[in-house]
Amino acid sequence: MIHVVRYESPQHWAEHVAARFAAFLADEPAARMALPTGATPEPIYSGIVESVRAGIASFRRAQVFLLDEFGGVAPDAKGRCDAMLRRALLDHVDLPPERYHRLTPEAEDVAAMCAAYDASMQGPLDLVMLGIGRNGHVGMNEPGTSPESVTRRVELAPGTTQASVRYFGEGQPLPTWGVTLGLREILAARTIWIIASGDGKADIVRDVLLEPVSAQRPASLLRGHANCWFFVDAAAASRLPAGVLSRG
Ligand code: PGA
Repeated sequence: MIHVVRYESPQHWAEHVAARFAAFLADEPAARMALPTGATPEPIYSGIVESVRAGIASFRRAQVFLLDEFGGVAPDAKGRCDAMLRRALLDHVDLPPERYHRLTPEAEDVAAMCAAYDASMQGPLDLVMLGIGRNGHVGMNEPGTSPESVTRRVELAPGTTQASVRYFGEGQPLPTWGVTLGLREILAARTIWIIASGDGKADIVRDVLLEPVSAQRPASLLRGHANCWFFVDAAAASRLPAGVLSRG
């Protein structure tokens, strides 16, 4: 079952998704979750940090898995997903370090690292939160990805490499590959949240929700999931007909 929830402004969107997350964590303090990076989750993470500071939510018993990671760039590059998640969230909350699981593309045997990562999840995750790329990718599962794909090394679509300049900075080396949670692990999760904001995401949000399900738009493969939520602000929802929306 897919739920699409629209919020009037980016501020409402970020506040309400952060509040939902805090409520989720309060209900399930030992939740195991995969979290995304990039521009989209940052205002949501700010709200979550406030909730933790206010004592409304705590990561003390949670397990956090990094959704994906760029390969072939310096381990300390500021655009690495690990660096972004730390800056936006983990440096400011009470998650014990041993409860944070990273993907390490510099591993000598990347396939073995990915298999160990999947094994460390100890079964389906409770929550996977995802951004969405303009080509419909989720994590680094680019167009053409099979729903059976597992955590693995992937080549990035050229547009994804180009778009990563906003994380790494002008003139910096950009990644052409990465490692990502597979669609199999994402689809196995109990709950999936997809977050999108801004009019740059309006076309892909519409296509993912209304065009036929297709591996060419990997996010559309999540429509068959039993508990999948799209949280969108008004700009990202601007090409959706009113019938598919509930108001946040
Ligand atoms: P963004 O990236 O949040 O920086 O827009 C989303 C994505 O490409 O998955």
